[in-house]
Amino acid sequence: MLTTQNETILTLDLDWVRSQFPSLAQTVNGYPATFLDGPGGTQVPQRVINAISDYLKRDNANTGGAYATSRHTDAMIAGARSAMADFLGCDADEVVFGPNMTSLTFAISRSIGRDLRSGDEIVLTHLDHDANTSPWRALEERGVTIRMAEIHEHDCTLDMDDLARKITGRTKLVAVGYASNAVGTINDVAQIVRLAHQRGAMAYIDAVHYAPHGPIDVRALDCDFLACSTYKFFGPHMGVLYGKREHLKRLDPYKVRANTNAIPNRWEWGTLNHECIAGIAACVDYLADLGRHVNSSASTRRAAVLAAYDAIQKHERGLMETLIKGLLAIPGLKLYGISDPKRFDRRCPTIAVRVKGHTPLELATQLGEHGFFTWDGNYYALNLTERLDVEKDGGFLRIGLAHYNTAEEVDRLLATLREIVG
Ligand SMILES: Cc1ncc(COP(=O)(O)O)c(C=O)c1O
Repeated sequence: MLTTQNETILTLDLDWVRSQFPSLAQTVNGYPATFLDGPGGTQVPQRVINAISDYLKRDNANTGGAYATSRHTDAMIAGARSAMADFLGCDADEVVFGPNMTSLTFAISRSIGRDLRSGDEIVLTHLDHDANTSPWRALEERGVTIRMAEIHEHDCTLDMDDLARKITGRTKLVAVGYASNAVGTINDVAQIVRLAHQRGAMAYIDAVHYAPHGPIDVRALDCDFLACSTYKFFGPHMGVLYGKREHLKRLDPYKVRANTNAIPNRWEWGTLNHECIAGIAACVDYLADLGRHVNSSASTRRAAVLAAYDAIQKHERGLMETLIKGLLAIPGLKLYGISDPKRFDRRCPTIAVRVKGHTPLELATQLGEHGFFTWDGNYYALNLTERLDVEKDGGFLRIGLAHYNTAEEVDRLLATLREIVG
């Protein structure tokens, strides 16, 4: 931590960060492995790996039994729930664990659908991942009308006027992403929640893509639901749902008879992935530790997580500026999304490009041979690739930065890409 007279500057200790993630030390064809695939799933720190294997070694049991390992499991799950509550800014009984964001969203959409009828409307957006589209579209079978909010194609931002017009007295729910997993746009979700509430609709936020890049405060947003996936922010492959207590109590879940009616467990069916839940607690603790590393005065776990995100955002911003500037200088390259550095607070460091004469798959394959892990295609952001008419041409090449990436990696990526495209 560096301190000037008037302010505390939170800087990431990148050596410490990278030393936490064992997978970063790998090589591919003699090249250092460079993980630019965070939007598809991030790497995990050693402590997450340890928490998962320690749980399986010591405490592997089902819940609710009158013996030691089962009690340890109950306590471990309660601990992970309060860790996620600190991460999201809510209470532990508002945190629901599930296999992934998609399954949790289907669970909630089915329950909300029980109260909907013909003429009711749901507003979705063209920027969203299909996991925040198809579960709501499924309610068309109940006569619900889906309205799609438009985007501004030139910078892949939401058309907020169109969105506001489409939210009417008939709207029951607005489902929107916090950030786009394809082009990185960060939506003004606080404003969207306000618009929904003004019309008496609920707001469902997909924070899967935003979670590794920025702090989440569900109380400040006042959203009704917010879903994320821990494997996108340095944890194991699982999903987490925040629901306002009143909704988790009022809505009627589909569940087995023996399942409790108490929240949040009435939304968790069957036996959960306990070892991964142990990993979730460790992943929040990693972020808190990172926060304390940059700001030793962070007094609570939540304060430490917020300090971590402060440092993460500053670090990612620097890398993103270099990367976008370098990409824009490559002849024949088209970047989708916000490219003006003055507006970079409205985007994540997730960058979608196409290069004339090369398919995204060709580029991803060649980069992969040089140790760069990028993605090609639509990554389920199908609404957007169809809307921009790139679906038939292989979608985009997606380069996703995470806080463990370095300036040297960005420079090498740019040099390699320049070489590939000639
Ligand atoms: C923005 C966004 N929403 C939702 C999902 C689906 O998440 P899950 O795999 O946890 O179902 C993803 C996965 O890539 C995503 O990027």
